[in-house]
Amino acid sequence: MRVLGIESSCDETAIALVEGTGDRLRVERSVISSQIDLHKAFGGVVPEVAARRHVDVIFPLLEEAGVPRDGAGIDVIAVTAGPGLVAALRVGVELGKTLAWMWNKPLVGANHLEGHLYSTWFDGAGEEGEASRFPALALLVSGGHTELVLMRGHGDYALLGMTRDDAAGEAFDKVAKRVGLPYPGGPQISRLALEGRADAIAFPRPMIDSGDFDFSFSGLKTAVAVHLAAHPDTPLPDLCASFQQAVVDVLVAKTMAAARQVRPASVLLSGGVAANALLRETLRAEVARAFPEATFHAPSPEHTTDNAAMIAAAGYFRAQAGRFDDPMSLVADPNMRLAARP
Ligand code: KG4
Ligand code: ZN
Repeated sequence: MRVLGIESSCDETAIALVEGTGDRLRVERSVISSQIDLHKAFGGVVPEVAARRHVDVIFPLLEEAGVPRDGAGIDVIAVTAGPGLVAALRVGVELGKTLAWMWNKPLVGANHLEGHLYSTWFDGAGEEGEASRFPALALLVSGGHTELVLMRGHGDYALLGMTRDDAAGEAFDKVAKRVGLPYPGGPQISRLALEGRADAIAFPRPMIDSGDFDFSFSGLKTAVAVHLAAHPDTPLPDLCASFQQAVVDVLVAKTMAAARQVRPASVLLSGGVAANALLRETLRAEVARAFPEATFHAPSPEHTTDNAAMIAAAGYFRAQAGRFDDPMSLVADPNMRLAARP
């Protein structure tokens, strides 16, 4: 089954063609047009500016991805229907609906977060090419989300915990902004952290012993600001390394606590913050130590940030289950939920 994926929920416009066979997925084409430079001047993403850029680039991207104008060879169209910025989402959703109607192909309105989960299904995400197994415990960490999700099967999710305030990526971005580093801050902070001491500053590990699987990062951001006000001469690499260590400690501790409860066959790490080397390596090592029988999966760097291959992947498994949407009535849902609490 060949799936066309369309993504426009935030500041990346993306188109992909993915071939699915059984439980395996192969990315044929994946093209992304990032708007990071466009929004840099504003220090964050401006929704209407994002939507206009999506309109400008989405048709050229279809051509660049080699999508045939008559839809030949495409079996299913999958488009991100939510969550995200409503004006941005609408661009992709209307394109998906139009192509589905024109080509008379089935349409799937995919959940963006489900896409991030399935970014760990591509070849190369697991050790020795192994596919993920159920039950799978997923840590999803991006600029907008920090969630622990239990995947009992395809399309069968339970939300174990989430952030009560800032997302992990958002904390990286806000700390970066505070010290004058450009947006997005995650890559900048992790690069500087390489030259710093992670034990230089004892930042708090918020909610690490809360007994549930929720997170909170807004206090950590404040702790960084308070420390800087009192010690303005703190070396930036030490600050970055200590902050990064605090975030990673909490993310890993909570994921391992959840793993002890649900005993997963696979542990998945996804979302933009999954590009963080310290997080990847710490979680990989902890899973290997505590659950040697479980497999660990994290996407290759090009699939950690927003892309359309992961949307096509989510669409593939929905299509396998016959869960399609009506091209006449699908609407973008900026607050779409992935799952309820168990
Ligand atoms: O998934 P994504 O591309 O967009 C959202 O859906 O939010 O995630 C972007 C986020 C940004 O907050 C960015 O700072 C963070 O991922 N990020 C990182 C790293 N690379 C990207 N955070 C920490 N370390 C990194 N190496
Ligand atoms: Zn995302």
